[in-house]
Amino acid sequence: MVNIEKIRDQFPITKKKIYLNHAGTSPLCKPVAEAMQAYLAKRIMQEESEFELEDCRRLFAGLVNAQLDEIALIPNTSTGMNIAANMLQYPSGSNIVTTDLEFPSVVYPWLRSQMKSKVEIRYVRNVDGCLRQQDYEKAVDDKTVAVVVSHVEYSNGFRNNLRALAEITHEHGAVLIVDACQSAGALKIDVKSQGIDLLATSTYKWLLGPSGAGFLFVREELAAGAEPVFVGWASVNHELFKTVDLWENRELKLVDTAVRFETGTPSILSYVGAAAALKFIMEIGVENIEKRIMDLTGHLIERLRQEGFKLQTLEQPEHRSGIVNVKTENPVEKVENLQRKNIAVSARMNGIRVSPHFYNTEEELEKFIAELKSL
Ligand SMILES: Cc1ncc(COP(=O)(O)O)c(C=O)c1O
Repeated sequence: MVNIEKIRDQFPITKKKIYLNHAGTSPLCKPVAEAMQAYLAKRIMQEESEFELEDCRRLFAGLVNAQLDEIALIPNTSTGMNIAANMLQYPSGSNIVTTDLEFPSVVYPWLRSQMKSKVEIRYVRNVDGCLRQQDYEKAVDDKTVAVVVSHVEYSNGFRNNLRALAEITHEHGAVLIVDACQSAGALKIDVKSQGIDLLATSTYKWLLGPSGAGFLFVREELAAGAEPVFVGWASVNHELFKTVDLWENRELKLVDTAVRFETGTPSILSYVGAAAALKFIMEIGVENIEKRIMDLTGHLIERLRQEGFKLQTLEQPEHRSGIVNVKTENPVEKVENLQRKNIAVSARMNGIRVSPHFYNTEEELEKFIAELKSL
């Protein structure tokens, strides 16, 4: 298992703060910052860097068990959800199914689709923070084009059972679209065994990367015929054109893979950081990270209960994640007070959202609880 004390040296933030806000943004760890600094040092002199974007794509594909060409580079999750919404057709009477716990970028692209089509948006309602299987079953029918959910809901950390959702979705011929922004890097994802059709994530949260680097997984069979809204040199097989000095621009021959959704030059610096972060995470092992996060949030839930706090997060391990939400009066004020004591958490859903990563410790959680009690 992981030597936490040693690992904490890689996170300089631990010297200064109790950082429990990975559902917001992760602090940069040394391997990521150093990789980016080394790249910048080369760029200052316009020297060749060893960095290859394709290596980064390969690392992410490996992380989620996708094929290399099922991955497109996107700047953030919101872009990925827009690509997903725009590649689908919405015949009259069709619907998409989502939930009332979603982050705006999961739903807005379909609200925008409603400007062009009459697609109905069905919201599965949470019951005490839980999105129930039977409610998804009721909502999805043969007119459903897609089920669109977060793997982990941003406010209370509810973890959807993607495998079960995929079964319901596919039974009705629809596609399962997943926002993995709050799970990638923290929980195991396997697009094949979980039956995911499209998945988007940024890297600056649980994946420990910088902003500006994200990934979109599009299942092989879906990518080929899909129509991208934006296209550019990166949407075609530019390898073919490497040796000629003038591109053939009379015809648009999109590649048959997810790469057709790429347009132009991405933020290479961000992907340098993302590649270092992915390597770091994969060296530790996502299973190890998930187990550690689940132990930490399990401990936090138990202790908060003992101290008489009301939780807005479910206790069942299969529905838990790296996010715990504790109900309080005046959460914004309390979060500011905690910030002054060098404890970083955030205010969400009329409560305080606490999101430890694997390098946090039980002692840090105890300090947070003690400070919270004193407010
Ligand atoms: C579930 C979820 N999706 C997406 C985002 C952010 O998306 P983006 O990376 O496009 O800013 C967040 C940020 O909090 C989130 O919680």
